[in-house]
Amino acid sequence: MVKVAPSLLAADMLQMGNEIERMAQAGADYLHFDVMDGRFVPNLSYGIPVLKAAAKGSLPVDVHLMIERPERYIDAFAEAGAKIITIHAEATVHLDRALRQIRAAGCLAGVAMNPATSPECLRYVLGAFDLALVMTINPGFGGQKMLESCVQKVADVRRLLDDTGTDAMIEVDGGVNEKTAPKLVQNGATVLVAGSACFGAPDAAAFIRALHACKPM
Ligand code: DX5
Ligand code: ZN
Repeated sequence: MVKVAPSLLAADMLQMGNEIERMAQAGADYLHFDVMDGRFVPNLSYGIPVLKAAAKGSLPVDVHLMIERPERYIDAFAEAGAKIITIHAEATVHLDRALRQIRAAGCLAGVAMNPATSPECLRYVLGAFDLALVMTINPGFGGQKMLESCVQKVADVRRLLDDTGTDAMIEVDGGVNEKTAPKLVQNGATVLVAGSACFGAPDAAAFIRALHACKPM
């Protein structure tokens, strides 16, 4: 079954602990934790102390680093309780080394791609990652509309993994809701990140059930 990862960015920050438990109760599989440095993306969010607190909740934390030279902070995020650490292919000149660093720190390793980045960036690091994150918006802000061109990209990543016999999750992030999720899953997505649609849903459990019900082709 496809996994659902609510993005904490859309939660009521004054109620962070309760919001995380609300998502756990509603059936979420991961908590998606977006870190922004104001350089790789034009926005700032939160970092290590907040992760330390969030990781005490009952959901495994999927950390999405939208920061330049993420290798500087991988060990600190692992230490703070990350289960998955995803870095952007565009953010480091040593992608292979940084992915190995994530696994050496005891986490699952993810590679994220901006909308304009070719999935070919995955080809020579196959086997060094556990998750490929296809950004379905330009990263930096929640609440944006999904870019339609990214649906084809999910299919391209699916084909690359299948053709090379690579077992890895395909995560999508940005503008995921009940309307966009089915085609993303049909094209090969296995983890759905949802921020505004999930935290803003009148019934989060029903929303997550609808996403869980999406079936691959
Ligand atoms: C944005 C983040 C996303 C964001 C998604 O750069 O990576 O995880 O929270 O928000 P929605 O689901 O509202 O598009
Ligand atoms: Zn994200």
